[in-house]
Amino acid sequence: MSQSTHRPTTALPSPADAPKGVVIKTPIPGPKAKKIVAADGRFLMTSTKTAPVVVESAAGVWVNDVDGNRLLDFTSGVGVVNTGHCHPDIVAAVRDQAGRLMHYAGTDYYYENQVRLAEKLGTIVPGAFAKKVFFTNSGTESVEAALKIARWNRQRPITIGLLGAFHGRSMGSLTMTASKPAQRARFQPYAGGGHHIPPPYCYRCPYKLEFPSCDLYCAKILKELYFETSIPPDDVAAFIAEPVMGEGGYVVPPKGWFGALKTILDEHGILLIDDEVQAGFGRTGKWFGIEHHGVTPDIVATAKALGSGLPIGAMIFRKELDYTYQGAHSNTFGGNLVAVASALATLDVIEREKLLENSRVRGEQLIARLRELQKKHEVIGDVRGLGLMVATEFVKGPSDKAPDALLRDRVVEESYKRGLVLLPCGKSSIRYIPPLVIRPEEVDEGVEILDTAITAARRRG
Ligand SMILES: Cc1ncc(COP(=O)(O)O)c(C=O)c1O
Repeated sequence: MSQSTHRPTTALPSPADAPKGVVIKTPIPGPKAKKIVAADGRFLMTSTKTAPVVVESAAGVWVNDVDGNRLLDFTSGVGVVNTGHCHPDIVAAVRDQAGRLMHYAGTDYYYENQVRLAEKLGTIVPGAFAKKVFFTNSGTESVEAALKIARWNRQRPITIGLLGAFHGRSMGSLTMTASKPAQRARFQPYAGGGHHIPPPYCYRCPYKLEFPSCDLYCAKILKELYFETSIPPDDVAAFIAEPVMGEGGYVVPPKGWFGALKTILDEHGILLIDDEVQAGFGRTGKWFGIEHHGVTPDIVATAKALGSGLPIGAMIFRKELDYTYQGAHSNTFGGNLVAVASALATLDVIEREKLLENSRVRGEQLIARLRELQKKHEVIGDVRGLGLMVATEFVKGPSDKAPDALLRDRVVEESYKRGLVLLPCGKSSIRYIPPLVIRPEEVDEGVEILDTAITAARRRG
C-alpha cells in the first residue's frame, strides 16, 4: 500500500518554456472581466470577494485573465495550489481517474486509493504513533470532524481557541473562529462550549510585554487565570490552534509557546487540535507548520493544498481516539476518488520536486526582499512568516503602530492593477503566498511590483 498508482505522463515545463513576466493588455478589470463581475453580483451570494480578477487559465505561478492579461499569483488561489497551477502530473492523474471511476461513496464502501492516501498522510503528519484518517471536502469540515471526535472521545463539552483565529464558517468551526466580528455577527448561539484566550501576537502583545522576558505569559495565563476562574480544566476536551494564525494576520507564535501550552494541556488530558488547513503541505517550508514548534498534536485538520485545487480535506488523529461504533460521524463525498488521485499526485510532486526546500529558500529570499522594502516604506510595520507563508503589516507610521487598513487595501488594488494578485489578512496585513514552485526571478518580479504599488497607494494620501 505504499506506491501511488499514477505515473508522471508529461514532462514539467522547463524554466525556459515557462510563462515569463506580467503582461497587461487592458486595465484590470478589462471589458470581459467587468461583465462577469457584474453578473456575479446579480447571481451569486455575497461572500468574501477581494479583487475583480477573472481567471480563465493558469500555469505555475501565472494566471491568465479573460481579457488576455497575465498576472503573477501571490495567493496560490487562496492557499490551495502549492504545487503551482495545473501541474501536468496532477492534471494527468485527475484525468486518468475521472475516466475510470469518480464516485462510489468511500465511507460506505471501499477504495484502494483512499487507504493509500490515509497511510501516506499518517507517515508525514508528526507523531511516532499509529494514526487514522477521516476524509472531508473542505477546511471547515475537517475542523468540524476534529472538534466532534475530541468531544466524543473525551466526553467533555469545552473547546478553547485563540482570539484572532480562523477555523471555518460552519457552526462548529465558527464557534472557534474569532478573527473578525463580521464572521460571527447575527449567528449566535454558536455550537456551544467555545472559549477563547488572547493570542501569542508579539508585535501587538495583548499584555504589552516583551519576548522573552514575558516568560510566555500568553500560554501560562491559561493555567494561572482561566483554569482558576472561568474554565474548569477537566471539562475541556481540546485546545485548537493554527501553527501560524492565518486569516488573523499571519501571527507566528514565539518560540516555546506551543511547548508551554502543551505542558498545561497534558496535565488535564486535553487534546491539541492543530489546524493546518492554511499552513499544511509545505507552505511553511515543512510538511506541517506545527513542526516548527516542537510539539506533537493529537489531531490535525487539513484541506486547501492537499488536492491542488480539487476539494479534499483530511482529519488525521491518534488511532486510539477513533469511534468505537459506526454512525457517529461520516459523509458522502469525503475522499472522492478524483480528489484522492489529485492528492496522491500532489504529495508525490511536493516530494519529487523538493518543494519543502524551495518553500524554505524562496521564503528566505522573499522575507529579505520585504525587509528591504520596509526600510524604504516605513508604513510596513512588521515583516513575518515561515517559509512561503509570509505577511507584512501596514501601519500609520514607524513609531505609531496604528493599523492602516485603508492603505493596505489600496496596496492590494494598486498591485493587481499592475499584475500582482495579493490577499489581505488580519486588520491591516497582506499575505504573500505564491505557489511553492516559484523561481527566484518571479519572487523579485513580485516584490518590484509591490514596491511601485506601495508608492502609488501612499500617493493617494
Ligand atoms: C486555518 C483555517 N482553518 C479552516 C479554514 C476553513 O477552510 P474552508 O474555507 O475550506 O472551509 C481556513 C480557510 O481559510 C483556514 O485558513
